[in-house]
Amino acid sequence: MSAILKILLIGDLFGKTGRSIFARHIKALQEKHAIDATIVNGENAADGKGITPDIVKFLQEHQVQVVTTGNHVWDKKDIISYMSEHDTVLRPANYPERCPGTGMTFFDCKGFTVGVINLMGRLFMPVQLDCPFEKAEQLLKESQAITPIMIVDFHAEVAAEKQALGYFLDGRVSVVVGTHTHVQTADAMILPKGTAYLTDLGMGGSLNSMIGAKKEALLYKLMTQMPVRHEVSSDAPYVLSGAVVAIDTITGKSLSIETVYIVDNEPL
Ligand SMILES: [Fe+2]
Ligand SMILES: [Fe+2]
Repeated sequence: MSAILKILLIGDLFGKTGRSIFARHIKALQEKHAIDATIVNGENAADGKGITPDIVKFLQEHQVQVVTTGNHVWDKKDIISYMSEHDTVLRPANYPERCPGTGMTFFDCKGFTVGVINLMGRLFMPVQLDCPFEKAEQLLKESQAITPIMIVDFHAEVAAEKQALGYFLDGRVSVVVGTHTHVQTADAMILPKGTAYLTDLGMGGSLNSMIGAKKEALLYKLMTQMPVRHEVSSDAPYVLSGAVVAIDTITGKSLSIETVYIVDNEPL
């Protein structure tokens, strides 16, 4: 029987600040939108760099089904062995095959199977990976026998590369959303063949920052080209951003996509 699944997608949580604003709003968001499953990008959740098994547990306690990542996936070493044993934390699928972990997983959602694919772009990114388009093609050959409900987190810097993957997969997956820039874009739409698309979900973290990090250090780095340590900003106000998609379980196509952008000034 046909049904509609509502999925909440949240952008990169940045450090303790991101985790705090996430914890403060997630339950109300899930209730307000009658959310069936939540997917979060956790690549910066530890201290701006990486994620730990304890943080995965924290996210799961808030009803997160799948955690996606990106270029910071390996920054905390405890996650490496964890990912060899659990497929609830994804690494970009176009990392070399011999890397630990997986870039695609499936979970049950109200009796329907939902698939999640994590991919990473190649333009202006710090690591060289396999072609995300060819990797997506290869993974869809596996997933189409399993479910039509597929969600893609494309972790990439350049808007056009994200749009390219959106159009490449239009009508073949339910959702393509971008992560990595930490700034939400204003282009949420249903593409012509039924895929929900958003160039970037944004983040959870300090809005009074540069992509979640203390702005003074990053400004100094850009002005001097000197190396600096990135530290998590705890300056108010704070932002939690992402999107809610509604997916038809028979066709796998999306019926709607609506952005979520919460700003608050409460003490952490
Ligand atoms: Fe990030
Ligand atoms: Fe990233």
